[in-house]
Amino acid sequence: MLNSDSLDLLFRNARTHNVWLERDVDVDLLKQAWELAVLAPTSANCEPMRITFVKSAEAKERLKPCLAPGNVEKTMTAPVTAIIAHDMEFYEKLPDLFPHADARSWFVGNDAAIQATAFRNGSLQAGYFTMAVRALGLDCGSMSGFDNAKVDAEFFAGTPLKSNFLMNIGYGDGSKLFDRSPRLSFDQARRSFDVSACFGRMTIIDKDTLSKAADRPFRRTVLGFIGGFYRCADADAQNLLNSIS
Ligand SMILES: Cc1cc2nc3c(=O)[nH]c(=O)nc-3n(C[C@H](O)[C@H](O)[C@H](O)COP(=O)(O)O)c2cc1C
Repeated sequence: MLNSDSLDLLFRNARTHNVWLERDVDVDLLKQAWELAVLAPTSANCEPMRITFVKSAEAKERLKPCLAPGNVEKTMTAPVTAIIAHDMEFYEKLPDLFPHADARSWFVGNDAAIQATAFRNGSLQAGYFTMAVRALGLDCGSMSGFDNAKVDAEFFAGTPLKSNFLMNIGYGDGSKLFDRSPRLSFDQARRSFDVSACFGRMTIIDKDTLSKAADRPFRRTVLGFIGGFYRCADADAQNLLNSIS
């Protein structure tokens, strides 16, 4: 188990930084952060996240017109800006990454599954990457305030990559932080889970129906098993039922 200092580093003292110290980032640290983050789980080990590190003044100038005005200064002064993207052809690597099943076939021609899986797992990996960056003593500041289509055209034209969000990385100036915003308490979050997620937006599915969807990606959308029935989100249930009707 981590000691209290480590929990401070990763959570209690970890903040989103907007102002950067004039200290360069060792590229080897970014590689180490990737190598830690990629060990954390993704569905079928699909690992769709791809990262483009924007560091030179020329590359930053290409990024600048894509940014929301409030994100320009912090991005132009950050030692590195990572474009967190996902590969919409991630499934082509599944024969290597998930060799014990024909996982590629779950996705080929199934746009909805590709999009949901790439975005879900790419975002998860970005969260893992955030924690890895912090674990290595770096600071970061993520941003969704930019034009995704412009970034995709400028950096990913002719590739299957789609940008998700940007992440400035460096050593933050802690003296420029404003007070931490409040967080939801456990009780606040737990109540909303009980009321809306469990009962409001869930569909119950019986075991026979689910078994007809064997080896389809929808099986992995099932969230729980209660009294002989499976439950999953309404939208996923609809996909599942469409797939076997
Ligand atoms: C995916 C994502 C997108 C964000 N987009 C922006 C942004 O465009 N501009 C900005 O100033 N902050 C942005 N933030 C920063 C959040 O507002 C910040 O992380 C949150 O308020 C928590 O702050 P703290 O980490 O200092 O506690 C973003 C954070 C995340 C994780």
